[in-house]
Amino acid sequence: MTTPAKRLMTPLSRRLGLKYPIACAPMFIISNEKMLVACAEAGILGCMPSLNGRTPAMLEAKLRYVREHTDKPFAINMTIGLTDPQRLQADLALCEQYEVPVWITSYGDPTPIVTRAHTRGTTVFHDVINLRHARKAQAAGVDAIIGVAAGAGGHAGRISPFALIPYLRENLSVPVIAAGCISTGRQILASLALGADLVYMGTRFIVSAQCGASEAYKSTVVQAGPEDIVYTDKVSGVHANFLRSSLPESRPQGPADAKLKQWKDIWSAGQGVAEIHDQATIEQIVDELVREYHDAMAGLPN
Ligand SMILES: Cc1cc2nc3c(=O)[nH]c(=O)nc-3n(C[C@H](O)[C@H](O)[C@H](O)COP(=O)(O)O)c2cc1C
Repeated sequence: MTTPAKRLMTPLSRRLGLKYPIACAPMFIISNEKMLVACAEAGILGCMPSLNGRTPAMLEAKLRYVREHTDKPFAINMTIGLTDPQRLQADLALCEQYEVPVWITSYGDPTPIVTRAHTRGTTVFHDVINLRHARKAQAAGVDAIIGVAAGAGGHAGRISPFALIPYLRENLSVPVIAAGCISTGRQILASLALGADLVYMGTRFIVSAQCGASEAYKSTVVQAGPEDIVYTDKVSGVHANFLRSSLPESRPQGPADAKLKQWKDIWSAGQGVAEIHDQATIEQIVDELVREYHDAMAGLPN
């Protein structure tokens, strides 16, 4: 039997009411309400960008679905500077109405959102790629900082996770959440060793059965190695990681190419593709991560 001391748990996962200190990170277009429910039931924190509901009414339908299918925690991500201010206010009001337990902010000053969240006891995480922004967000009162390292899926930073996580840990007083290139239980163990309180995993869950990514996208992730990931600002103006074969220059020229849509047809994934070898359900992925974590722990040198 696993003794409590050996359980995969941290002060932050305990505070949030999670079974494991793992978040399935928000992914534009492809995260959905079914993932939020499956994650919640598997004991991890499912996260979805508010804009995955194309309108506030569509976001509300997703929140209602989650509330009808689970009473466990989940999170909604609001990209402050990339969202129309009126839409942001509508999304915040829905997060209040549906009592979303964790709000994740990025790309802007989280101060007004933190004030609003804390009046209701809601937890706020803020996403950063460097210490300067982390310090500002900590001063704004956020409850934890997500450090997005080099190699992460989506808009990634430039600092190696080996440097970023301990650097944030040493310089901040709030908990640190590690993001970037974490796809296995062994990497979860390493992240906790570096000082993380929670891990934030996107690329690993692209291949989950519940994820809205197309079959072609999922099989490209399974087949890809880290050499197939390109860090570029040419797709959206902000540096992010994409699968090389989905970039316009890698596709045969043709009239359809003019219609390629960012994130929908040009697929983002991080260097963590290296360790993704198959598709599975969220429940199976979580079981595997936990098993790998314990095996890695048992295999450490004395
Ligand atoms: C396809 C895709 C879409 C993403 N969209 C968002 C987003 O809308 N908002 C956000 O804060 N992060 C977004 N991210 C970043 C993830 O939330 C997370 O930081 C990242 O996936 C962690 O690195 P990993 O992919 O190596 O696990 C996205 C990542 C991917 C792969």
